[in-house]
Amino acid sequence: MNNISIAIDGPAASGKSTVAKVIAKRLGYLYIDTGAMYRALTYKALENNVDVENESALMHLLEETDMQLKHGEDGQLMFVDGEDVSEAIRSPKVTNSVSHVAKHGLIREDMVKRQREFSLNGGVIMDGRDIGTHVLPHAEVKIFMLASVEERAQRRHLENMQKGFPSDFEKLKEEIALRDKIDSEREVAPLKKADDAIEFDTTLYSKEEVVEKMLDIIQSTM
Ligand code: C5P
Repeated sequence: MNNISIAIDGPAASGKSTVAKVIAKRLGYLYIDTGAMYRALTYKALENNVDVENESALMHLLEETDMQLKHGEDGQLMFVDGEDVSEAIRSPKVTNSVSHVAKHGLIREDMVKRQREFSLNGGVIMDGRDIGTHVLPHAEVKIFMLASVEERAQRRHLENMQKGFPSDFEKLKEEIALRDKIDSEREVAPLKKADDAIEFDTTLYSKEEVVEKMLDIIQSTM
């Protein structure tokens, strides 16, 4: 298969990372979870009591942060200043603050620059909110994944319980809806389907079915 770029966007907990990871492995592609980058900065801001509304303080923090994505057998690991924070960046505290960090234009500019560098050689599958519209506007394949908020909350609820995080389904539903609202309404590169993206509602499908359908879409576009 040619070394193309694949952009996957969609709202919170729509299953993007789960399937993108599997597809990357199947195609032998590099997988980049861009949400992990915003989460890593949020994690560091919370650790250092930096106000998530303070863009210049966040920029300063980002400049002095060593952020590294490492690629292992099972996807991507995130290291911040040498510490493996792959699990810590998924905590509810980080999850509920990350959209505030991600709305700042200067932060996004810096992150997007890093993200584009990963795609220079092609053979990349990248997921996020603005990949098809902004980060990789020339990606050969763009998929916009959707699922009902109930289904997404249910998936995240199960995931939280498996990880041993406390979890309340109704609260999760509200938090996911709020995150979508902030991500869709922000001024810079909001969550939005690219005009040339294929919309895929995964509500009624299992993870395995989603992977197969996505591979069909990818192969038919090539
Ligand atoms: O994908 P994930 O849920 O890990 O993303 C966490 C948050 O990071 C999103 O809710 C959004 O605020 C931000 N994000 C973004 N642009 C991206 C990826 C993530 O704004 N490309």
